[in-house]
Amino acid sequence: MESVLELDEAKPTILKIGGSVITDKNGELAARTEVINRLAEEIQKANTRRLVIVHGGGSFGHPTAQKYGIKEGLREETQKIGFAETHHVMTVLNGLVMDSLVWHSVPAVSIMPSSCIITKNGRIKTFDDAALKMLLGMDFVPVLYGDAVLDETLGFTVLSGDQLVAYLAMKFNAARIVIGVDTDGLYDADPKTAKNAKLYTHLTLSELEKVKSRLAGSAAVDVTGGMLGKINELIPVVAQGIPVAIVNAAKPNRTYKALIGGSVEGTLIEKE
Ligand code: IPE
Repeated sequence: MESVLELDEAKPTILKIGGSVITDKNGELAARTEVINRLAEEIQKANTRRLVIVHGGGSFGHPTAQKYGIKEGLREETQKIGFAETHHVMTVLNGLVMDSLVWHSVPAVSIMPSSCIITKNGRIKTFDDAALKMLLGMDFVPVLYGDAVLDETLGFTVLSGDQLVAYLAMKFNAARIVIGVDTDGLYDADPKTAKNAKLYTHLTLSELEKVKSRLAGSAAVDVTGGMLGKINELIPVVAQGIPVAIVNAAKPNRTYKALIGGSVEGTLIEKE
């Protein structure tokens, strides 16, 4: 069965680009500039109206966040430099992404999550989205990212790009979500370790709930939960009727094809 993603130009499209796509997760501060440039080209070519981009942390955010236990919150003074460093390296990665988008003529404008979002126990509590709304209304492309953010109960924590994507999709009633990962989509087991892992091309909400328990977290250092964390964030979004396409952004043109709509080479998740 061919999985087809419908397009609605009036509603926003949220594109998540995984940290494992734009960085080498086994290194430290290892950006894949050629991949970032290719994706910027695909985004420019797709010319999607009302696009919001969210990117992950990969080998920029995760190792530092893990070293200092940033996700678990503030327990000792020595973590403060870790919080600052985690946020800072994310701005560095974001700078590389912005550089590429802007020089590929995408009217992208960066929004720093730690300056407009406060979480409570790890979940988004307040989000000052006035600038984001105005940028979208003016056909700019707002770009956000997983970040180290302040938290009402924990002091600070790590906000995953995946939670941000789900929040934005529901708040702005998105037409669809496109998630770019470094595998061909969603599998019944980790394709990097399980040889016979089977790719799901289409899943309904109830099927997604069933496979959830079978998915393991990703193999590399990931403080925000890997593929399982993604699924947990996506379930309420799909339940709201927003379709999600998971594609291999490490392979040329898959992201472009998902952005222009039509048939999806990857996994399409729909309510029913
Ligand atoms: C993580 O963001 C950000 C930090 C660790 C500060 P994500 O959780 O969205 O990153 P990826 O896509 O898994 O790398």
